[in-house]
Amino acid sequence: MRKNSFAIQGGSFGDEGKGKVVDELCSRLVEKHKKILVYRWNGGANAGHTVVLNGKKTVLHHIPSGALIKGAMCILGKGMVLHPGDLIKEIIEIKKTRKSKVPAKLVIDEMSVLTLDTHRAFEAVLKDWAEGGSGSTGRGIAPAYSDVILRHPVRMRDLVGKTWKKKLSKHYDLYRALVEGLGEKISAKQVPNLKNQFSKVGSKNAFLQKLENQRKLLKKYVVDANMLVRAFWNSKVPFVFEGAQGVGLDPRWGVYPDVTSSDPTFSGIAHSTEGVVHPDEIEVKASVFKATYMSSVGKRKLPTKMNTKLANKIRKDANEYGATTGRPRDIYYVDLPALKFFSKVTKPTHLVLTHLDISYEDYPVKVCTNYIDLKGKKVFYRPDQEFLNKTKPKYKEFKPWDGKLIRGVNNTSGLPKQVKTYVDLLAKTLELKPWKLTTGPERNAVVTLNF
Ligand code: IMP
Repeated sequence: MRKNSFAIQGGSFGDEGKGKVVDELCSRLVEKHKKILVYRWNGGANAGHTVVLNGKKTVLHHIPSGALIKGAMCILGKGMVLHPGDLIKEIIEIKKTRKSKVPAKLVIDEMSVLTLDTHRAFEAVLKDWAEGGSGSTGRGIAPAYSDVILRHPVRMRDLVGKTWKKKLSKHYDLYRALVEGLGEKISAKQVPNLKNQFSKVGSKNAFLQKLENQRKLLKKYVVDANMLVRAFWNSKVPFVFEGAQGVGLDPRWGVYPDVTSSDPTFSGIAHSTEGVVHPDEIEVKASVFKATYMSSVGKRKLPTKMNTKLANKIRKDANEYGATTGRPRDIYYVDLPALKFFSKVTKPTHLVLTHLDISYEDYPVKVCTNYIDLKGKKVFYRPDQEFLNKTKPKYKEFKPWDGKLIRGVNNTSGLPKQVKTYVDLLAKTLELKPWKLTTGPERNAVVTLNF
């Protein structure tokens, strides 16, 4: 077991509050050890991790949530897909909100894969031909990961390398043919950026011109991260792995077909670090989800949808709108059959529950404990939308607490008995050790339990 190593995975459908958890963990570790490594292993500009510090909100997309901490080195790993233009915007945005340079040192693995406007154009056109990706964020994530499977990815090392123009010109030609094959013109296709503003992909020249400027800006961050990760892993420096999205969006375990294309589970760490780190060697593997409800953005439909006044109240109080696309998130009751399945297939060791302050004295905490099929027979979660459409939830109710009264609490003595009973029940059902409970958006609104 590697001492002082932590991995944080989204335990449900993304947007669980991982960014805040990673930021708080990193700030504690830096206080004690001065130096830490934060490593993101999957996803790209589809993610939106919100960190609130001194009332100022920063939304991170590609960059790990340790970025706001001096003493952290943040690595954007091989398992990620990066959009150079959006990444530069994100760096500028951090500098603007924090009124300083990025506090952490940023490093990009040269093996990370590019996702470009070409991918976004193809993804948009494909939506008219096939339904599977209709819930996507439109950030070109699936086409970029498909490039790897089809064996023609463009990587960061291609962008900063000497032959970049030739490689990216060939890439444009390929995507022009794909988009034209589906009946549209790539240069005229409108694609979104990080701020959800749309602009044309443009001609090949315009596309290459943009990349020429971007490669100059990004070059200083790009390294061969393999030796770096190896050296740090063999040192005593605390190592934090930060996942994006969640198990419910995993292409194998999530509600197929509205899933993402990366590996948001701990197993993605082994792939991204080229086997330097196996997840079994990590001391704390924590799955994060919201304590009293779940949220999901996209086209998937889960059995426990909340179509009540309570859903609107939660959406408003917890700001349940996509941090990347601004879409309102669907609100669900906690779905234990799905969460049990996600725990079984990813084997976390610890549990992090967020948003404990979202509970209302006049609404019991309703939890789905079982599914039944249309004939009333008990069934289990399966990663398939058609199957889930034919299941019905069975609920159990728990005594609520007044969330307002625990907002910002950071020790167990400030928590009412109902919270402790409820947390223990979830931990027992999922066979995980409770580790952290969050009680509000600010960095120090976290109760850390012994582990
Ligand atoms: P893609 O990752 O853009 O291909 O989107 C696939 C599905 O995953 C869609 O339903 C998205 O809404 C969802 N998704 C992707 N990233 C996130 C995230 O960071 N949080 C929540 N949902 C996400």
